Amino acid sequence: MEKVKDISNPWEGLIKEGAYNLQKPEPNLLKILKASERIDAFALDLGCGLGRHLAPLQEKGFQPIGLDISPSAIRFIRKELHPDSKVIVGDMKVLPFEDESLDLVLAWRSVYLQSFKEMLQSVDEIKRTLKPGGKLIAAIRSTRNTLYFIGKEKGVEIEENTFIIDDEKYLKGVIFHFSHEQEIRKVFSWLTITYLNEEILEDTKYTQKDGRPSTNYYWIVVGEKPR
Ligand SMILES: C[S@@+](CC[C@H](N)C(=O)[O-])C[C@H]1O[C@@H](n2cnc3c(N)ncnc32)[C@H](O)[C@@H]1O
Repeated sequence: MEKVKDISNPWEGLIKEGAYNLQKPEPNLLKILKASERIDAFALDLGCGLGRHLAPLQEKGFQPIGLDISPSAIRFIRKELHPDSKVIVGDMKVLPFEDESLDLVLAWRSVYLQSFKEMLQSVDEIKRTLKPGGKLIAAIRSTRNTLYFIGKEKGVEIEENTFIIDDEKYLKGVIFHFSHEQEIRKVFSWLTITYLNEEILEDTKYTQKDGRPSTNYYWIVVGEKPR
């Protein structure tokens, strides 16, 4: 655990260098948004990256707020998307929002990028800030994800199912926690889960160095905080 404390968040470097640069919305998420009702309400995009999901949220009637630990990501959104975008630099472990103030939290490929204890802190923050009846949409790496096996083979397992995998430039210093179904159900036991499915995300399909296709499974969790 001491190892985790010593590592400063590497995302600012990755985003500044362009190592993380996804800008097209994820088709799996668009499908979920398409099926959901249109509402005029506050939505937090937790770990919003370069803001690729802010417009789809807005199109669905939400007033989106993006939060990311990387100042470069936030600067990019203001410069390239819209100067008035509601985006802030922040840490998903301590959200700068009032209790029960958000109608939707989108945690798309973000909460697992830390130790399990920290992931639980972020989930507690989501629980605190969601209104009763508010909704969570999350994508969380599964233990069937290709990177899990790469972690097992080449990474440093800093705690159970949590790895630092430094062999690829774009993974440098990043912590990845992977979840199995039982863990997901336990972590989100406070939520009424309306959709739980293990899916391969379109944007993370790639061919591995040995030519095999990747199987980047994520748990897609949609649920509502009981009223
Ligand atoms: C894999 S990217 C996903 C970005 C975005 N959700 C998307 O789908 O394009 C993860 C994002 O989480 C951000 N992040 C990592 N740790 C964070 C933290 N502790 N608090 C807030 N954001 C964080 C990173 O800076 C990065 O932009």
